[in-house]
Amino acid sequence: MARIIGTGSCMPRNVVTNKSMESYVDTSDEWIVSRTGIKERYISEKDENTGDLGYGAAVEALRDAGIGPMDLDYIIVATTTPHSLVPNTSCYIQGKLGAMNAACFDINAACTGFIYGLEIAQSLLNLKDKEYVLVIGTEVLSKITDFGDRSTCVLFGDGAGAAVLRKGEGILGIVTGADGTKGECLSTGDFAVSNILAGVNESKNLISMDGKEVYKFAVNILPLALEKALEKSDMKAEELDHIIPHQANVRIIESAAKRLHLPLDKFYMNIERTGNTSAASIAIALDEMNKKGLLKMGDKVSMVGFGGGLTYGAICMEWTM
Ligand code: UT7
Repeated sequence: MARIIGTGSCMPRNVVTNKSMESYVDTSDEWIVSRTGIKERYISEKDENTGDLGYGAAVEALRDAGIGPMDLDYIIVATTTPHSLVPNTSCYIQGKLGAMNAACFDINAACTGFIYGLEIAQSLLNLKDKEYVLVIGTEVLSKITDFGDRSTCVLFGDGAGAAVLRKGEGILGIVTGADGTKGECLSTGDFAVSNILAGVNESKNLISMDGKEVYKFAVNILPLALEKALEKSDMKAEELDHIIPHQANVRIIESAAKRLHLPLDKFYMNIERTGNTSAASIAIALDEMNKKGLLKMGDKVSMVGFGGGLTYGAICMEWTM
């Protein structure tokens, strides 16, 4: 049993518009907007990294939850672009927070990482003596993006989002899964992590993607995962007040809405301003909704994602803040 009691987010300083991308890659604002819905994204500078963005999101989430760093039992960081291999990004953030009672570990489930993190947090909160878990999704995807490849570089952005979970009723059902046979559709070279560490951008170690295959997987799995989570939660789709999908492509979200026979305005979207921030995407969107006061006590909220691996996951919960 677990519920979300606070959220936060932190974005890099620098915003890169589609228009400015036209200067270094053969693309156009018109193509990017019509094919993806993205208008701009945040791109980290050399001095902005996964750990510091995650820390910024964590500070906000703790403040929103009204607890201190020493209250945390665990910090789980979901990331594809870790701050370093050792120490893990979670320990880095723990050190900065001074959350000295927290055990710390990272997970990588690409864009589904935040949902995987929530599932793990929920399980940990079933332990008798554990009360609070901080789950952070944080990425600097730009540091493993090939800015010469127009089919991927226009899609991704950087940022971090976080949620504090506490023992109690809120989360109704979670579903996670993967299909490793499709792993090659979205992959990095073997040395992507060393790129991040060195702050270099060498094309042989960067993200490559078969966009069409990922698209096919996404339009199928998004409604399927959501339906499974609804079933687990003993709920019907029409009972949902809000759906927070992974922000990868407006067309994928539109297709899911159609397949689920749900109005598109129930799907929260910020992709226009953020691009695809992988493990951070759903967490950032959740925090935006919370800050804007869009989530009311008792609302039925779902979050659903898919990504590299290929992975997928969905969660249904009652908003209890
Ligand atoms: O978190 C999970 C991460 N990944 C995803 O969610 C990706 C899922 N896939 C997608 O969102 C879409 O497949 C893309 C947005 C990546 C691509 O859209 P598409 O409608 O499938 O385009 P396409 O790959 O079929 O390309 C159509 C054309 C091609 O030109 P030709 O061969 O028809 O002459 C591409 O070379 O568009 C071209 N193209 C571009 N043109 C301008 C590809 N990227 C660009 C670009 N600007 N940035």
